[in-house]
Amino acid sequence: MTSSSFGKLPDGTAIELLTLTNSKGMQAQIMTYGATVVSLTAPDKSGKYADVVQGMENLEGYLAGVPYFGAIVGRYGNRIGHAQFQLDGKTYNLPKNDGDNTLHGGVVGFDKKVWTAKTGDGNVEFTVVSDDGDQGFPGKLTAHVTYTLTDNDELKIEYVATTDKPTVVNLTNHTYFNLAGQGEGNILDHQVTLLADRFTPVDAGLIPTGELKPVAGTPFDFTKATAIGARINQQDEQLTYGKGYDHNWVLNGSGMKKAAEVYEPKSGRVMEVMTEEPGLQFYTGNFLDGKIKGKGGRVYGHRAAFCMETQHFPDSPNKPAFPTTELKPGQTYKTSTVYKFSAR
Ligand code: GLA
Repeated sequence: MTSSSFGKLPDGTAIELLTLTNSKGMQAQIMTYGATVVSLTAPDKSGKYADVVQGMENLEGYLAGVPYFGAIVGRYGNRIGHAQFQLDGKTYNLPKNDGDNTLHGGVVGFDKKVWTAKTGDGNVEFTVVSDDGDQGFPGKLTAHVTYTLTDNDELKIEYVATTDKPTVVNLTNHTYFNLAGQGEGNILDHQVTLLADRFTPVDAGLIPTGELKPVAGTPFDFTKATAIGARINQQDEQLTYGKGYDHNWVLNGSGMKKAAEVYEPKSGRVMEVMTEEPGLQFYTGNFLDGKIKGKGGRVYGHRAAFCMETQHFPDSPNKPAFPTTELKPGQTYKTSTVYKFSAR
């Protein structure tokens, strides 16, 4: 574990970069701005390491505006419809930063907060305190996110949060992966398996309709390994709304379980995702348009990366039938997700 400077915010706040290295040589770099994964290396089938996540060369790159590259998103990852929800009979209004809706916690979400870092043995714990009323959400929320790089080539992310008033919370990580290496073309040949028999279809604003729809017979069926590009351009209302895949899958089973596996045929790299969360937002970088030049001068074109955001379902605060995202004083929000890398 080493710590170095990653620059300063315009107000002078220093941003730190923490580097975790495991016994095999895999490395993860995470900064205190947004508790953001800046780089993550993984070996290919010949043992050659490459950085498999999108990111920026320096802090200025992030401050210039990136779509949540590597960041922790919160308080409420994903969308809340009409930027509003009710809790205990009271209506809470949130900022609208995605059409009529709230995306990823509002205008200044957890991705734009400076977290404090506490380093441990092979891990680093980030903490942020969000005041009562921050971005319209009730309750002072204290959140801790611990990243651990294990000797089994796993990046483990543990989330803990507490509140002093009833509130809603949904934390996730928004890393953009390309298992061929960041900036190495698009991800359409990556083969994806999702351990999910259903997904939550959305309206044109990407808010779930409330239905849990079977994936069988649709382009959303990834129960068997399928190339991302195999059906992404099919005529399908849901694919049109998402401009590709940008949907929440309802994971099979409960507790800690395997959610996904991704295989990149040229490098042989494999990523498995295990999570305690009930859902997974699989997003295929449909909004990337080549305007952002990232690490090493790499241009991030259309579908240059994919995200697997483990989460509670979008708009849960307005969908009583979905698993609850409410957190009360005295309760502890606790969840974890593991991204495991190998090659074959
Ligand atoms: C999430 C959303 C997408 C998009 C990206 C960021 O994955 O579901 O619609 O907003 O974040 O660009």
